[in-house]
Amino acid sequence: ARISLRQLLDHAAENEYGVPAFNINNMEQGLAVMDAARKAESPVIIQASRGARNYAHDTMLTKMIDALVEIYPELPIVMHQDHGNSPATCATAIQNGFTSVMMDGSLMADAKTPADFDYNVNVTKTVVDFAHACGVSVEGELGVLGSLETGMGEAEDGHGAEGVLDHSQLLTDPDQAVDFVAKTGVDALAIAMGTSHGAYKFSRKPDGEVLAMHVIAEIHKRLPDTHLVMHGSSSVPQELQDLINAYGGAMPQTYGVPVEELQKAIKIGVRKINIDTDCRMAITGTIRKYFLENPEGFDPRSYLKPAKEAMQQVCYDRFVQFGTAGNA
Ligand code: G3H
Ligand code: 13P
Ligand code: NA
Ligand code: ZN
Repeated sequence: ARISLRQLLDHAAENEYGVPAFNINNMEQGLAVMDAARKAESPVIIQASRGARNYAHDTMLTKMIDALVEIYPELPIVMHQDHGNSPATCATAIQNGFTSVMMDGSLMADAKTPADFDYNVNVTKTVVDFAHACGVSVEGELGVLGSLETGMGEAEDGHGAEGVLDHSQLLTDPDQAVDFVAKTGVDALAIAMGTSHGAYKFSRKPDGEVLAMHVIAEIHKRLPDTHLVMHGSSSVPQELQDLINAYGGAMPQTYGVPVEELQKAIKIGVRKINIDTDCRMAITGTIRKYFLENPEGFDPRSYLKPAKEAMQQVCYDRFVQFGTAGNA
Protein backbone atom coordinates (compact mmCIF):
# COMPACT_ATOMS: atom_id res chain seq x y z
CA ALA A 1 0.00 0.00 0.00
CA ARG A 2 1.01 3.58 -0.58
CA ILE A 3 2.12 5.43 2.55
CA SER A 4 3.62 8.85 3.15
CA LEU A 5 7.29 9.53 3.82
CA ARG A 6 6.37 10.87 7.30
CA GLN A 7 4.64 7.58 8.19
CA LEU A 8 7.60 5.49 7.05
CA LEU A 9 10.36 7.61 8.55
CA ASP A 10 8.57 7.96 11.90
CA HIS A 11 8.65 4.15 12.07
CA ALA A 12 12.30 4.13 10.99
CA ALA A 13 13.23 6.67 13.69
CA GLU A 14 11.32 4.75 16.35
CA ASN A 15 13.15 1.56 15.37
CA GLU A 16 16.50 3.18 14.47
CA TYR A 17 16.88 2.04 10.89
CA GLY A 18 17.57 3.88 7.61
CA VAL A 19 15.68 3.62 4.33
CA PRO A 20 17.36 3.76 0.93
CA ALA A 21 15.51 5.87 -1.64
CA PHE A 22 16.12 4.52 -5.12
CA ASN A 23 15.64 6.53 -8.31
CA ILE A 24 13.74 4.87 -11.13
CA ASN A 25 13.06 5.80 -14.75
CA ASN A 26 11.60 2.63 -16.22
CA MET A 27 9.83 -0.68 -15.57
CA GLU A 28 12.99 -2.73 -15.03
CA GLN A 29 14.23 -0.38 -12.30
CA GLY A 30 10.80 -0.36 -10.63
CA LEU A 31 10.66 -4.15 -10.61
CA ALA A 32 14.26 -4.39 -9.38
CA VAL A 33 13.51 -2.26 -6.30
CA MET A 34 10.29 -4.13 -5.55
CA ASP A 35 11.73 -7.64 -6.04
CA ALA A 36 14.57 -6.71 -3.66
CA ALA A 37 12.09 -5.31 -1.13
CA ARG A 38 9.93 -8.43 -1.30
CA LYS A 39 12.96 -10.63 -0.67
CA ALA A 40 14.15 -8.40 2.20
CA GLU A 41 10.63 -7.75 3.56
CA SER A 42 11.41 -4.05 3.40
CA PRO A 43 9.33 -0.91 3.10
CA VAL A 44 10.24 1.04 -0.04
CA ILE A 45 10.98 4.59 -1.14
CA ILE A 46 10.88 4.91 -4.92
CA GLN A 47 11.76 8.34 -6.26
CA ALA A 48 11.45 9.98 -9.65
CA SER A 49 13.38 13.07 -10.73
CA ARG A 50 11.99 15.65 -13.14
CA GLY A 51 14.17 13.95 -15.73
CA ALA A 52 12.53 10.61 -14.97
CA ARG A 53 9.06 12.10 -15.36
CA ASN A 54 10.03 13.54 -18.75
CA TYR A 55 11.72 10.31 -19.84
CA ALA A 56 8.90 7.92 -18.91
CA HIS A 57 5.94 10.32 -19.24
CA ASP A 58 3.87 11.13 -16.16
CA THR A 59 1.05 8.83 -17.31
CA MET A 60 3.37 5.85 -17.70
CA LEU A 61 5.08 6.45 -14.34
CA THR A 62 1.77 6.96 -12.54
CA LYS A 63 0.26 3.76 -13.89
CA MET A 64 3.47 1.88 -13.23
CA ILE A 65 3.34 2.90 -9.57
CA ASP A 66 -0.32 1.78 -9.46
CA ALA A 67 0.82 -1.54 -10.91
CA LEU A 68 3.68 -1.95 -8.42
CA VAL A 69 1.32 -1.24 -5.51
CA GLU A 70 -0.98 -3.95 -6.89
CA ILE A 71 1.75 -6.52 -7.66
CA TYR A 72 3.41 -6.14 -4.23
CA PRO A 73 0.38 -5.65 -1.93
CA GLU A 74 2.26 -6.64 1.21
CA LEU A 75 4.82 -3.82 0.93
CA PRO A 76 4.52 -0.21 2.15
CA ILE A 77 5.56 2.09 -0.75
CA VAL A 78 6.45 5.77 -0.63
CA MET A 79 6.38 7.43 -4.06
CA HIS A 80 8.59 10.51 -3.86
CA GLN A 81 9.37 13.45 -6.16
CA ASP A 82 13.17 13.83 -6.15
CA HIS A 83 14.53 17.40 -6.47
CA GLY A 84 11.31 19.25 -7.29
CA ASN A 85 12.41 22.69 -8.50
CA SER A 86 9.10 24.55 -8.10
CA PRO A 87 5.69 24.36 -6.42
CA ALA A 88 4.21 23.40 -9.82
CA THR A 89 6.45 20.32 -10.09
CA CYS A 90 5.41 19.27 -6.58
CA ALA A 91 1.71 19.91 -7.25
CA THR A 92 1.65 17.81 -10.43
CA ALA A 93 3.52 15.03 -8.62
CA ILE A 94 0.72 15.00 -6.03
CA GLN A 95 -1.88 14.92 -8.83
CA ASN A 96 -0.05 11.84 -10.14
CA GLY A 97 -0.30 9.97 -6.83
CA PHE A 98 3.07 10.73 -5.27
CA THR A 99 2.89 10.55 -1.44
CA SER A 100 5.96 12.68 -0.84
CA VAL A 101 7.64 15.60 -2.59
CA MET A 102 11.02 17.24 -2.35
CA MET A 103 10.97 21.00 -2.83
CA ASP A 104 14.64 21.71 -3.43
CA GLY A 105 14.77 25.44 -2.75
CA SER A 106 18.51 25.35 -2.10
CA LEU A 107 18.85 26.16 -5.78
CA MET A 108 16.83 28.57 -7.91
CA ALA A 109 14.27 27.05 -10.33
CA ASP A 110 17.00 26.70 -13.01
CA ALA A 111 18.50 24.05 -10.66
CA LYS A 112 21.92 25.70 -11.12
CA THR A 113 22.09 28.95 -9.17
CA PRO A 114 22.37 28.77 -5.35
CA ALA A 115 19.31 30.39 -3.73
CA ASP A 116 19.21 32.62 -0.67
CA PHE A 117 17.64 31.54 2.61
CA ASP A 118 14.45 33.63 2.29
CA TYR A 119 13.68 32.30 -1.20
CA ASN A 120 14.19 28.75 0.09
CA VAL A 121 11.91 29.31 3.10
CA ASN A 122 9.13 30.90 1.03
CA VAL A 123 9.04 28.38 -1.78
CA THR A 124 9.28 25.42 0.62
CA LYS A 125 6.55 26.78 2.94
CA THR A 126 4.25 27.20 -0.08
CA VAL A 127 4.69 23.50 -0.91
CA VAL A 128 4.27 22.38 2.72
CA ASP A 129 0.93 24.23 2.92
CA PHE A 130 -0.69 22.45 -0.03
CA ALA A 131 1.10 19.10 0.36
CA HIS A 132 0.10 18.67 4.00
CA ALA A 133 -3.49 19.53 3.06
CA CYS A 134 -3.30 16.46 0.78
CA GLY A 135 -1.63 14.18 3.36
CA VAL A 136 1.62 14.32 1.39
CA SER A 137 5.02 14.71 3.08
CA VAL A 138 7.64 17.30 2.17
CA GLU A 139 11.44 17.12 2.06
CA GLY A 140 13.35 20.40 1.96
CA GLU A 141 17.04 21.02 1.36
CA LEU A 142 19.34 23.47 3.07
CA GLY A 143 22.89 23.91 1.83
CA VAL A 144 24.40 23.17 -1.54
CA LEU A 145 25.74 19.73 -2.28
CA GLY A 146 29.22 19.81 -3.66
CA SER A 147 32.79 18.83 -3.24
CA LEU A 148 34.73 19.86 -0.16
CA GLU A 149 37.81 18.74 -2.09
CA THR A 150 37.34 21.26 -4.88
CA GLY A 151 35.13 23.87 -3.20
CA MET A 152 32.76 23.55 -6.14
CA GLY A 153 29.02 23.57 -5.60
CA GLU A 154 26.91 21.27 -7.68
CA ALA A 155 23.84 21.67 -9.84
CA GLU A 156 21.34 18.83 -9.80
CA ASP A 157 22.67 17.46 -13.08
CA GLY A 158 25.97 16.62 -11.36
CA HIS A 159 27.79 19.49 -13.06
CA GLY A 160 29.16 22.50 -11.22
CA ALA A 161 26.77 25.17 -9.92
CA GLU A 162 27.36 28.78 -10.94
CA GLY A 163 30.54 30.05 -9.36
CA VAL A 164 32.73 28.63 -6.66
CA LEU A 165 31.16 28.63 -3.21
CA ASP A 166 32.90 29.29 0.02
CA HIS A 167 33.45 26.28 2.24
CA SER A 168 30.65 27.18 4.68
CA GLN A 169 27.96 27.00 1.96
CA LEU A 170 28.91 23.38 1.34
CA LEU A 171 27.94 22.36 4.87
CA THR A 172 24.48 22.96 6.34
CA ASP A 173 24.59 25.35 9.30
CA PRO A 174 22.75 23.83 12.32
CA ASP A 175 21.34 27.20 13.51
CA GLN A 176 19.96 27.87 10.04
CA ALA A 177 18.51 24.35 9.92
CA VAL A 178 16.56 24.96 13.13
CA ASP A 179 15.25 28.30 11.76
CA PHE A 180 14.37 26.69 8.38
CA VAL A 181 12.37 23.87 9.93
CA ALA A 182 10.54 26.24 12.30
CA LYS A 183 9.56 28.48 9.36
CA THR A 184 8.60 25.74 6.86
CA GLY A 185 7.35 22.71 8.82
CA VAL A 186 9.10 20.21 6.53
CA ASP A 187 8.91 16.52 7.45
CA ALA A 188 12.39 15.73 6.19
CA LEU A 189 15.50 17.81 5.60
CA ALA A 190 18.29 17.12 3.12
CA ILE A 191 21.55 18.44 4.48
CA ALA A 192 24.87 19.19 2.80
CA MET A 193 27.57 17.28 4.65
CA GLY A 194 30.24 16.54 2.10
CA THR A 195 28.61 14.33 -0.54
CA SER A 196 27.83 15.19 -4.15
CA HIS A 197 25.75 13.55 -6.86
CA GLY A 198 27.07 11.12 -9.46
CA ALA A 199 30.01 8.72 -9.64
CA TYR A 200 32.86 11.20 -9.12
CA LYS A 201 32.55 12.19 -5.47
CA PHE A 202 36.02 11.70 -4.01
CA SER A 203 39.54 11.07 -5.32
CA ARG A 204 40.31 8.84 -2.32
CA LYS A 205 38.29 6.91 0.23
CA PRO A 206 36.53 9.55 2.38
CA ASP A 207 36.74 9.54 6.17
CA GLY A 208 34.42 10.88 8.89
CA GLU A 209 36.03 14.33 8.56
CA VAL A 210 35.35 14.75 4.82
CA LEU A 211 31.82 13.48 5.45
CA ALA A 212 31.19 15.96 8.30
CA MET A 213 29.53 13.47 10.63
CA HIS A 214 29.58 16.15 13.36
CA VAL A 215 27.17 18.26 11.30
CA ILE A 216 24.68 15.38 11.06
CA ALA A 217 24.93 14.69 14.80
CA GLU A 218 24.47 18.35 15.74
CA ILE A 219 21.44 18.87 13.46
CA HIS A 220 19.82 15.63 14.64
CA LYS A 221 20.29 16.67 18.28
CA ARG A 222 18.64 20.04 17.61
CA LEU A 223 15.87 18.66 15.33
CA PRO A 224 15.00 15.17 16.61
CA ASP A 225 11.58 15.14 14.88
CA THR A 226 12.81 16.19 11.44
CA HIS A 227 14.03 13.24 9.42
CA LEU A 228 17.48 13.83 7.95
CA VAL A 229 18.21 12.94 4.34
CA MET A 230 21.57 12.23 2.72
CA HIS A 231 21.76 12.86 -1.01
CA GLY A 232 24.65 11.65 -3.13
CA SER A 233 24.88 8.45 -1.10
CA SER A 234 26.01 5.96 -3.71
CA SER A 235 28.99 3.88 -2.64
CA VAL A 236 30.32 3.56 -6.22
CA PRO A 237 31.50 -0.01 -5.47
CA GLN A 238 34.91 -0.98 -6.80
CA GLU A 239 33.51 -4.21 -8.22
CA LEU A 240 31.00 -2.28 -10.36
CA GLN A 241 33.75 0.06 -11.62
CA ASP A 242 35.80 -3.04 -12.44
CA LEU A 243 32.84 -4.74 -14.16
CA ILE A 244 32.20 -1.72 -16.37
CA ASN A 245 35.89 -1.31 -17.21
CA ALA A 246 36.43 -5.05 -17.84
CA TYR A 247 33.82 -4.95 -20.59
CA GLY A 248 34.84 -1.93 -22.62
CA GLY A 249 33.93 0.92 -20.24
CA ALA A 250 36.29 3.77 -19.40
CA MET A 251 35.43 5.06 -15.94
CA PRO A 252 38.37 6.74 -14.19
CA GLN A 253 39.04 5.42 -10.66
CA THR A 254 36.70 7.10 -8.18
CA TYR A 255 35.35 6.76 -4.64
CA GLY A 256 31.82 7.04 -3.28
CA VAL A 257 30.41 6.98 0.25
CA PRO A 258 31.47 3.70 1.92
CA VAL A 259 28.56 1.64 3.26
CA GLU A 260 30.10 1.72 6.76
CA GLU A 261 29.95 5.55 6.72
CA LEU A 262 26.27 5.35 5.72
CA GLN A 263 25.71 2.97 8.62
CA LYS A 264 27.39 5.44 10.99
CA ALA A 265 25.20 8.24 9.61
CA ILE A 266 22.06 6.15 10.26
CA LYS A 267 23.23 5.61 13.86
CA ILE A 268 23.44 9.37 14.39
CA GLY A 269 20.08 10.23 12.85
CA VAL A 270 19.99 9.94 9.04
CA ARG A 271 16.79 8.19 7.89
CA LYS A 272 16.57 8.56 4.06
CA ILE A 273 19.59 7.69 1.94
CA ASN A 274 19.40 8.60 -1.77
CA ILE A 275 20.93 6.17 -4.24
CA ASP A 276 20.87 6.35 -8.04
CA THR A 277 24.43 6.00 -9.36
CA ASP A 278 25.07 2.50 -7.89
CA CYS A 279 21.91 1.19 -9.61
CA ARG A 280 22.89 2.80 -12.92
CA MET A 281 26.36 1.22 -12.70
CA ALA A 282 24.98 -2.26 -11.93
CA ILE A 283 22.70 -2.07 -14.97
CA THR A 284 25.36 -0.69 -17.28
CA GLY A 285 28.09 -3.14 -16.24
CA THR A 286 25.75 -6.09 -16.74
CA ILE A 287 24.61 -4.95 -20.18
CA ARG A 288 28.21 -4.29 -21.28
CA LYS A 289 29.15 -7.82 -20.19
CA TYR A 290 26.20 -9.33 -22.06
CA PHE A 291 27.08 -7.62 -25.32
CA LEU A 292 30.77 -8.45 -25.17
CA GLU A 293 30.01 -12.09 -24.38
CA ASN A 294 27.06 -12.32 -26.81
CA PRO A 295 27.85 -10.14 -29.83
CA GLU A 296 25.16 -11.99 -31.79
CA GLY A 297 22.40 -11.20 -29.23
CA PHE A 298 19.58 -8.76 -29.95
CA ASP A 299 16.58 -9.66 -27.74
CA PRO A 300 16.32 -6.83 -25.15
CA ARG A 301 15.02 -9.29 -22.54
CA SER A 302 18.31 -11.20 -22.73
CA TYR A 303 20.24 -8.27 -21.29
CA LEU A 304 17.51 -6.39 -19.40
CA LYS A 305 16.71 -9.42 -17.21
CA PRO A 306 20.27 -9.81 -15.86
CA ALA A 307 20.58 -6.02 -15.64
CA LYS A 308 17.41 -5.89 -13.54
CA GLU A 309 18.77 -8.69 -11.34
CA ALA A 310 22.05 -6.82 -10.84
CA MET A 311 20.17 -3.70 -9.70
CA GLN A 312 17.99 -5.89 -7.47
CA GLN A 313 21.16 -7.18 -5.77
CA VAL A 314 22.35 -3.60 -5.04
CA CYS A 315 18.93 -2.71 -3.58
CA TYR A 316 18.75 -5.91 -1.52
CA ASP A 317 22.24 -5.27 -0.10
CA ARG A 318 21.29 -1.73 0.98
CA PHE A 319 18.01 -2.91 2.60
CA VAL A 320 20.04 -5.36 4.69
CA GLN A 321 22.94 -2.96 5.39
CA PHE A 322 20.65 -0.09 6.48
CA GLY A 323 18.48 -2.26 8.75
CA THR A 324 15.41 -1.69 6.56
CA ALA A 325 15.00 -5.43 5.99
CA GLY A 326 12.27 -7.06 8.05
CA ASN A 327 10.34 -3.84 8.64
CA ALA A 328 7.65 -4.20 5.93
O1 G3H B 1 19.78 13.82 -8.09
C1 G3H B 1 19.89 13.29 -9.18
C2 G3H B 1 19.36 11.91 -9.37
O2 G3H B 1 20.44 11.01 -9.48
C3 G3H B 1 18.46 11.88 -10.59
O3 G3H B 1 19.19 12.15 -11.75
O4 G3H B 1 18.03 14.07 -12.83
O5 G3H B 1 19.52 12.50 -14.14
O6 G3H B 1 17.27 11.75 -13.31
P1 G3H B 1 18.46 12.65 -13.08
P1 13P C 1 23.96 9.33 -6.14
O1 13P C 1 24.36 10.01 -7.41
O2 13P C 1 25.10 9.28 -5.16
O3 13P C 1 23.38 8.00 -6.37
O4 13P C 1 22.85 10.25 -5.42
C1 13P C 1 21.49 10.23 -5.85
C2 13P C 1 20.67 11.32 -5.26
O5 13P C 1 21.06 12.02 -4.33
C3 13P C 1 19.33 11.52 -5.84
O6 13P C 1 18.66 12.62 -5.27
NA1 NA D 1 21.05 21.66 -2.84
ZN1 ZN E 1 19.82 14.30 -4.74
